[in-house]
Amino acid sequence: MLRPRRNRRTPAIRSMVRETMLSPANFILPLFLHEDVEDTPIASMPGVTRWSLESLVREAGEAHALGIPAVVLFPKIEEALKSPDGKECHNDDGLVPRAIRALKAAHPSLCVITDVALDPYNSDGHDGIVKRSENGDLTVLNDETVEILCEQALCHARAGADIVAPSDMMDGRVTAIRDALDAEGFTDVSILSYTAKYASAFYGPFRGALDSAPKEGDKKTYQMDPANVREAVRETLLDEAEGADMLMVKPAGIYLDVIARVRETTTLPVAAYQVSGEYLMLKSASAAGWLDERAIVLESLTAIKRAGASMILTYFAKQAAVWLRPS
Ligand code: PBG
Repeated sequence: MLRPRRNRRTPAIRSMVRETMLSPANFILPLFLHEDVEDTPIASMPGVTRWSLESLVREAGEAHALGIPAVVLFPKIEEALKSPDGKECHNDDGLVPRAIRALKAAHPSLCVITDVALDPYNSDGHDGIVKRSENGDLTVLNDETVEILCEQALCHARAGADIVAPSDMMDGRVTAIRDALDAEGFTDVSILSYTAKYASAFYGPFRGALDSAPKEGDKKTYQMDPANVREAVRETLLDEAEGADMLMVKPAGIYLDVIARVRETTTLPVAAYQVSGEYLMLKSASAAGWLDERAIVLESLTAIKRAGASMILTYFAKQAAVWLRPS
């Protein structure tokens, strides 16, 4: 008789036949930062903190020491510095470039990734420049936005970023950013493109963390419709042709089919972002004692990797790295 259970009989056998191995090397830790000298716990994301520059460097060092190769930075920008064109995003003395320089000085082997989009800097709270027509309709301008995103990517590259990650979902931005980087000699700076970023309600807690929610309207004219997966294939083919080095799917846990489709479509590395709402669901159910935190988090991360993501952006990166340490 055929007995698949023989391959599950003991921990030793199970470890030999395991198909998906999770490692801290798969993790990218998203870090929030602000201009204050105090660290602020983020109310919408229990267990997550918005760091001062000094604490950011310490936190990134701790993560790196646990085997996490990379961090990605998300700044909270003071209201007074926000403008319709978000030009603070390419200020060489701005918060993000200063953070990149401090991180690279303290931890040269840490890979520093930056988010390229206007939402933290834009007074309208959108990822791009907003135009209001006479009848009051809002349009997020594509090509005008891409020009500023190129400035932002260059600013991050000048400060020493290893990878820039455009999360704005404008058309044509990967080619434009690649050309801008190459023209300035930053041929070694990689592009991790948010290829299939959905207009998801799961970003709610993140926008609370940065005060970056759109003042008006939603992001549905640029982020993808959660109902679509063929469109993710189209975005994958475009980003690959435009010269992206790595592709991302976001959110992760409830978009495993999208991760699998993107994985099948490209030979490039695939990343997935376990977003703030996914974090909050797992965290709050665990805090209430309803789910076993360690088991549920490792299972969710394993599922994301099994679906095809080799890089996982997760707020659980440090905790999971500790859990995965050989005992
Ligand atoms: C903005 C950006 C968002 C996230 C990452 N980059 C929010 C948005 O698009 O509104 C969400 C991350 C999360 O929810 O954890 N460009």
